Amino acid sequence: MRGNRFITLEGVDGAGKSTHVAFLAERIRAAGHAVVTTREPGGTRLGESLRELLLHAPMSHDTETLLMFAARREHLERVIRPALARGDWVLCDRYTDATWAYQGGGHGVDGALIAALETRIHDDCRPDCTILFDVPPDVSRERLERARSNGRALDKFEREDVAFTERVRAAYLARARAEPGRFRVVDSTKPQEAVRDELARIVATL
Ligand code: TYD
Repeated sequence: MRGNRFITLEGVDGAGKSTHVAFLAERIRAAGHAVVTTREPGGTRLGESLRELLLHAPMSHDTETLLMFAARREHLERVIRPALARGDWVLCDRYTDATWAYQGGGHGVDGALIAALETRIHDDCRPDCTILFDVPPDVSRERLERARSNGRALDKFEREDVAFTERVRAAYLARARAEPGRFRVVDSTKPQEAVRDELARIVATL
């Protein structure tokens, strides 16, 4: 059996990535690998408490960045590194590309701060593959609006305007262009079945 893989899922809010986590995990298991599914911010008790604050409490953008990495530090130590050490695959719903896209691209946090934290916290633990679920900002806003009118309360990031979503998306796409070997960009405006077929093809190449 092949060794571990660290796979992360990214995209703007409303891109539909969370819908596909269970399907991806099932495909990985079907290929004979143990897989741990987890998410950021979160994945540990402390991380989930920080998630609550990050998604709902007002704070400076630098504080937001520091707390994202605080949650990530715990997550790496308690969940991600042990799983990879066992030879498991890790499927993580968001990771540091989200910090680059949301805090860096969306909120304009200094890239030097993000780069320094990234090097300090997980220089040795970067994703093998990142699946970027891509949708234009108007599709993202439409999906979020539908969720809201179905009674779901939107969090701080989901309530941002379309220009924010545009900056986040542009930052993700720039990262994907800079690291084409790591990123797989999936057109998430396609019907769910077509997206699943593409995900199955991606898993088969890992
Ligand atoms: P999300 O992953 O979209 O969860 P759900 O599918 O349950 O809505 O929510 C997490 C939010 O946190 C999302 O809006 C992006 C944001 N985020 C950052 O801003 N920076 C980060 O580093 C991470 C990991 C997430």
